[in-house]
Amino acid sequence: MGWAGMRSFRQDRSVLQHRIKPGTTKRMLRFAVPYRKILAVFLPVVVLDAVVGAINPLILRAIIDKGISGKNTELIVGLAILAAVVAIVDAGLSLFERRVSALVGEGLIYDMRSKVFRHIQRMPLAFFTRTQTGALVSRLNNDVIGAQQAFTDLLSNVVGNFVSVIIVLILMFWLSWQITLVALILLPIFLIPARFVGRKLGAMTRESYNLNAEMNMVMNERFNVSGAMLVKLFGRPEAEATSFEDKAARVRDIGIAQALYARLFLVALTLTAALATAFAYGFGGVAAVHGEIQVGTLVALTAYLARLYQPLTQLSNVNLDVMTTLVSFERVFEVLDLVPMIDERPDPVELPRGPATIEFDHVDFAYPSAEDVSLASLEAVAQLEQAERVPVLHDVSFRIEPGQLVALVGPSGAGKTTISSLVPRLYDVTGGAVRIDGVDVRDASMASIQDVIGVVTQDPHLFHASLAENLRYARPEATDNELVAALVRAQIDHLVGALPDGLETVVGERGYRLSGGEKQRVALARLILKAPDVVVLDEATAHLDSESEAAVQEALRLTLAGRTSLVIAHRLSTVREADRLLVIEDGRIVEEGTHRELLARGGLYAELYRTQFADQEDDDAPTGGHGGPSAGGNGRAAAFTPDVPATPTP
Ligand SMILES: Nc1ncnc2c1ncn2[C@@H]1O[C@H](COP(=O)(O)OP(=O)(O)OP(=O)(O)O)[C@@H](O)[C@H]1O
Ligand SMILES: [Mg+2]
Repeated sequence: MGWAGMRSFRQDRSVLQHRIKPGTTKRMLRFAVPYRKILAVFLPVVVLDAVVGAINPLILRAIIDKGISGKNTELIVGLAILAAVVAIVDAGLSLFERRVSALVGEGLIYDMRSKVFRHIQRMPLAFFTRTQTGALVSRLNNDVIGAQQAFTDLLSNVVGNFVSVIIVLILMFWLSWQITLVALILLPIFLIPARFVGRKLGAMTRESYNLNAEMNMVMNERFNVSGAMLVKLFGRPEAEATSFEDKAARVRDIGIAQALYARLFLVALTLTAALATAFAYGFGGVAAVHGEIQVGTLVALTAYLARLYQPLTQLSNVNLDVMTTLVSFERVFEVLDLVPMIDERPDPVELPRGPATIEFDHVDFAYPSAEDVSLASLEAVAQLEQAERVPVLHDVSFRIEPGQLVALVGPSGAGKTTISSLVPRLYDVTGGAVRIDGVDVRDASMASIQDVIGVVTQDPHLFHASLAENLRYARPEATDNELVAALVRAQIDHLVGALPDGLETVVGERGYRLSGGEKQRVALARLILKAPDVVVLDEATAHLDSESEAAVQEALRLTLAGRTSLVIAHRLSTVREADRLLVIEDGRIVEEGTHRELLARGGLYAELYRTQFADQEDDDAPTGGHGGPSAGGNGRAAAFTPDVPATPTP
């Protein structure tokens, strides 16, 4: 007897109230289909094991009744050897059984995990901005493991226990139905308190899962670099520690109570079996004295008793096992059923490589609401939100010719980042169309979009890996020389030379070991390696010193040369070099023209220029000397293609 008997009692009984979606069972069984050959061997072995396990008490009986009573030493030795052989076979079978159930169980975990992982990767960006990473990870881990555990338990325990209980009961009744009845009377007396303890254990297990998830979330958020920095800068480590310890203390208290209740369960089970044995010996011993039953039969009966209680207890919770399995599978299916909002159409168009145009044709856009992209059970805030989609972009139209640089400027929250994320189809427009080379991005294949378009975000992400690995993310087959060439063009090669391990230096979590400007240039180097035809770039807002400013500008110049570019401009040199500026306000294009034209007009751009760009005048030496605003617009001439005229959309 052991912990296994308790597992189903630990389960959360509230699942019994749950209504399972129709078809879940069928889908669950479909996961087992690849294992049907193994299972075809497994189930007979489980049955055989149960049968073999029931043989030994009968041999004992024969030894006592026939061998000892009949003083037949040869028979005794022969039967003893047989008992040993049966025991060995039993051990072998149970090992084999465990191996097969592990094979199926771990295989199931593998299948479901890889399926869920692939599926979640297909989710649109909006899904990730809405979903708590912690909840997602726990779905991937706990539910998948829960489903597997309950499934294999169901297979081996339920089938095995059922067969062995039936066999044992038949044999016991055959040996002596009176004693068997007496011994079974105690079972309900045990099961009733066991259910009470089980309910308590279930509630505790659920609470400790929740608390553990909360602790994980706190650690995840506080122990990444930005979280840790926030905690330090705001001087809150004491408060953080206290709130964490509160949770940890509750986990501790629950753990203690759980241990006690679990032992109580085990003690009660052992005690009931012992009491039943005592009953059987008392009742049966008297019967043996009166010659109504043989001693060997009595011994065999009590040996069976020991094999009866645990399986019976487990079987009394079969409904719970089945429901837990179904609920876990259902939660995994819920994730798998989430239809990606942004997906390729069945026969997508391949975007051609080479000089490209970008066209926004009367684009309207609203960010998707929670219920469109996510699962209520995966996000805490879903219920609080009104479902309405608030429009962010209104009737945005423009066209960028091959090789042109168009810059977006505008106040914060105007919709610049939103416009830039529509180009690589991170979101789908709600009205109008975004076209690359005349092809609606919704018709293009995802792979070709990713090939043609390169994006550098405002705060580029680097993986916690070496510089070389981060760069090769763009082109896995790039040689070291190509990496260096890209670094040279991004004006960051000297830094790599200065690093202790050169290209093999690990950049730190999210690239925190690099300065803002360095990180931006590493991201540019990565973009250069990828060599896209279209570049979408969100410039870093950080003010750099004039030397890094010059380096970043040169890097940009070399990166964007010959590529169709949409840049969210935060630096004077960029707006000066742009072929055209689009001034965005409240999701609309309100002004359009070159830096010089727009300054002359004295509208929103002129105002933005005074607040955002004018103070960069002094640092701006490399671009066009000391020329004022009116001298702008020509600095890019050398590397860009200024002769293609900007074409306003009709
Ligand atoms: N993922 C999102 N879900 C819902 N609304 C969003 C989302 N991202 C941005 N918004 C909203 O869309 C509007 C435009 O945001 P956007 O990020 O495009 O502004 P921006 O012009 O890039 O501003 P900034 O210069 O500050 O970066 C804002 O009102 C913002 O609150
Ligand atoms: Mg932005």
